[in-house]
Amino acid sequence: MNYLFNLARHKEIEYHDNFYAKTELFQPGSWLSRPVKVVLDNLTQIEKENIQVLDLGCGVGRNSIPIAQSIQAHKGKIYCIDLLPSAIQLLNQNAEQYEVTDTIISQANDVENFLINKNTFDYIVACSCLEHVSSEAAFQAKLEEMKAGTTVGGINCILMSTEVKEIDVLTGEEREGLIELNLSTEKAFTYLREVYADWNISIEKNVQQEIKEEKNGREIIFRSNWITFVAQVRD
Ligand SMILES: C[S@@+](CC[C@H](N)C(=O)[O-])C[C@H]1O[C@@H](n2cnc3c(N)ncnc32)[C@H](O)[C@@H]1O
Repeated sequence: MNYLFNLARHKEIEYHDNFYAKTELFQPGSWLSRPVKVVLDNLTQIEKENIQVLDLGCGVGRNSIPIAQSIQAHKGKIYCIDLLPSAIQLLNQNAEQYEVTDTIISQANDVENFLINKNTFDYIVACSCLEHVSSEAAFQAKLEEMKAGTTVGGINCILMSTEVKEIDVLTGEEREGLIELNLSTEKAFTYLREVYADWNISIEKNVQQEIKEEKNGREIIFRSNWITFVAQVRD
């Protein structure tokens, strides 16, 4: 692994460890305040007893907990994977608080090392996860694995940041953002379209996002294009 990857990975871990330690799940005013609508909306497209869901980069359960609540009565299961042991620990506490421990199976693991078994999941979510893999080849390989791991009629719902930039508010200076895999929006869509060419693509869109943060005493804007891509296996 190269120096920049290690630096980006370190920053990613530090940010989430700190953020999760001081932010409650569903805390108003934070990005944990509510689940991502498109993630829950697409779940309702799959009506099935014993539904099997996979949430890659699940965090503390912003999406996993509401999904678990929705599939619990149908004897479904959601497998939750996150790089951070701290996130998985908090997810497990949240599962207890929201009474869904019987529905959630959690594991601390790097998404790259978690092998998705073939033809296993009805719904696979990757929300802010795939931009943290180590290379374009790893990104493509994980998409292929997600696809092969999906059952007939199943759905993959992918949300990710692309074209991440850091802008110094004072000087206007712009530089490439520090993230493990900083794909251009077009390249990310090209990969997604290629991999999912034989599925029905129901959503393909991107919106610009800006987050203000302080870095080394300077005010910085992190700007990215946030992709939403949803595809379903053709019958
Ligand atoms: C912005 S958060 C989103 C969490 C969750 N998907 C949500 O929507 O609330 C990104 C999450 O991805 C996790 N993550 C980052 N790199 C990862 C990797 N290589 N493998 C698995 N999880 C990773 C982080 O620990 C963090 O919890």
